[in-house]
Amino acid sequence: MPVGAYLRVNKLLTSLDEHLRAHVPDNLSSLISTIAAASIDIRRTLPTSLGMTAGVNTSGEKQARADVYANEKFATSLIGTGKAAEVASEEMADALQGEGSIHVAMDPLDGSSNISTNNPLGSIFGFYSSKLPCSGEHLVGAAYVTYGPMLTLTFATDGPVQTFAAVEGDGAPVFTLLEDNIHIPLRPEVFGLGGQRKDWIEPVERFVETLEGRGMKLRYGGTFVGDYNQVLRYGGIFGYPALKSKPKGKLRILYEAAPMAYITAHADGASSDGTQDILTLRPSTLAQPTPLYLGSESLVREVEALIARR
Ligand code: AHG
Ligand code: MN
Ligand code: MN
Repeated sequence: MPVGAYLRVNKLLTSLDEHLRAHVPDNLSSLISTIAAASIDIRRTLPTSLGMTAGVNTSGEKQARADVYANEKFATSLIGTGKAAEVASEEMADALQGEGSIHVAMDPLDGSSNISTNNPLGSIFGFYSSKLPCSGEHLVGAAYVTYGPMLTLTFATDGPVQTFAAVEGDGAPVFTLLEDNIHIPLRPEVFGLGGQRKDWIEPVERFVETLEGRGMKLRYGGTFVGDYNQVLRYGGIFGYPALKSKPKGKLRILYEAAPMAYITAHADGASSDGTQDILTLRPSTLAQPTPLYLGSESLVREVEALIARR
């Protein structure tokens, strides 16, 4: 059902705050509503926070001004809730300490290179019950923001995956239920893999050729959040594979891979590093990367089988 009709039909639309009060424990609820509020501000600042800083993050990647702004905004407001035991970030060497019970790991801005081209990008959050770094088995929730044609917040705690959209009103935008109980469609339609095709390990290259042979369509915009968001709705697979030049891949377990694997699992999808479920990986450092395949279970199992036979 088109979004507009959906919003009109459901006159008693659930706002994010109503949903959180009714269904989500207080500590997670406070962190998620803080993320929603901060994302409105971050979206507003994107046009005036272009360009790079002189800094690099712990993965050795150049920091955009927007990376630093988003990190500062999310980290201080999350610690300020009093619900976070710590906030670890792709953009910080060490976690900020707090007095709460939830260990938050975040990629404050995923795909900042897409700002100047106005392509969808996002922010990713994992809510862990154990000191970081730790396995995705300690996740008690995960969320991601998409800065696209709509500003949306997609998350799961211990139940289904929901998406709320920021709807402009008289005052501040209100995050309103857009999609409830999201399940990855069984029939996969789209695929997108990062890195360069010539750099993918050989089983992945063979796998992608079979996808095109089955009529699946390439949908790749260059950001994990923007590309994954399409897989969640159309069915298919997103990957940042093991590369010949980077056998461990690029995306970080704690900040990116595990939170999105948690959401995928709650949408009846699957995740893998090529041999095991992303959620079972045990990172020894905060920024440890992993090869990553996420989406329709049948496709994830296929790529695992091809890698196992290499
Ligand atoms: P970030 O901006 O947080 O570093 O993430 C960028 C990531 C991810 O969004 C995307 O999937 C990947 O970089 C694309 O990498 P390549 O440009 O190497 O393909
Ligand atoms: Mn990222
Ligand atoms: Mn980032």
